[in-house]
Amino acid sequence: ESSKTRQLITLHEKAAEIYHHLLMHTTAGQEALDYLLKRGLTEELIIEYQIGFAPMQREFLEKIFKNEQLSAEFFADSGLFVVRDDGQLLDRFYQRIVFPIRNAQGKTIGFSGRWFETPDFPAENQPKYLNSPETAIFNKREVLFNLDKARGAIRKTGEVFLFEGFMDVLAAWQSGIQNGIASMGTSLTQQQVTMIERMAQEVIFAYDGDNAGVEATHRGIELLKESSQLKVTVLQFPERLDPDDYIRKYGGEAFQQLANHGRATVFAFKMAYHRLNRNLANENDQLEYVEVLLNELIEVDSLIEQDRYLTQLSTEFQISREVLQQQVRQLKQQGR
Ligand code: CTP
Ligand code: MN
Ligand code: MN
Ligand code: MN
Ligand code: MN
Repeated sequence: ESSKTRQLITLHEKAAEIYHHLLMHTTAGQEALDYLLKRGLTEELIIEYQIGFAPMQREFLEKIFKNEQLSAEFFADSGLFVVRDDGQLLDRFYQRIVFPIRNAQGKTIGFSGRWFETPDFPAENQPKYLNSPETAIFNKREVLFNLDKARGAIRKTGEVFLFEGFMDVLAAWQSGIQNGIASMGTSLTQQQVTMIERMAQEVIFAYDGDNAGVEATHRGIELLKESSQLKVTVLQFPERLDPDDYIRKYGGEAFQQLANHGRATVFAFKMAYHRLNRNLANENDQLEYVEVLLNELIEVDSLIEQDRYLTQLSTEFQISREVLQQQVRQLKQQGR
């Protein structure tokens, strides 16, 4: 660990502390705190995760850090500022709720800031979330939000819930699911898969129930299949809800129930997935659908599972089981 790394982490931890203080104890942070409480986060959780508020000032951190014996170049490389053409440093995060992003050791290495609407600052052409840029300590491709806190529960159960967003991780945490993590708004990377494989045997996808979430789940499943031995299951959220929405609408107990007893197999997910852009009242679409699924079925290792889905397809589409089975055998031979 170089001294620059240490100093960068120290700077981030100081910023996190100050942002958190502003959120909890100042009038400037009141609207942000109200927003979080209204979304159902408890004060206890806000403290546990050291969530903060970056005020509507672009020279806030400069004042805070003015006595630090650090170079302008160091500040510019920290990711906490944007550098104007004339060299002036401006706070990157302002008028946002800030979530500290921690590495696996629990050290703060970056922030994600959420825009929220107030009467004074209505929705603008602002991105909803703004993340720290890549720095010497912050590499998005290898960050998994909440890994530091979730690791114990992941090791203990051998299972990890994979969410799209921080708010999903936090809502799940409050509902008692403490082995949840999220990638940083990007699709899952090879580095993240390697980290997960070191501590878990099963990944439970818990991405949003909208189209983007379902597509991302599909891509994630393919990546895990190609690059890991991990068992994969999927939580499917109704009404395009994301896990956080679901918990607010149906409650933490309903979510626990779904998380523990409502996991779909990869094939069951694929059945839902391949229905998305097909009209199964149409005979052409039906046949195409069955073919696509038989191609997926040859990837299923368990014969018992295979048998069950063959029966299901045969019943739903009135195709003889023998024919389906023969087709599966043919596809398997072609695949060799
Ligand atoms: N994201 C991002 N930049 C955006 C939108 C999203 O970096 N402009 C990332 C964030 O990490 C976010 C994740 O993608 O958590 C999932 O996006 P989305 O589902 O839109 O956000 P939610 O997590 O549902 O956030 P919220 O509930 O606060 O709307
Ligand atoms: Mn989403
Ligand atoms: Mn979402
Ligand atoms: Mn959303
Ligand atoms: Mn959400």
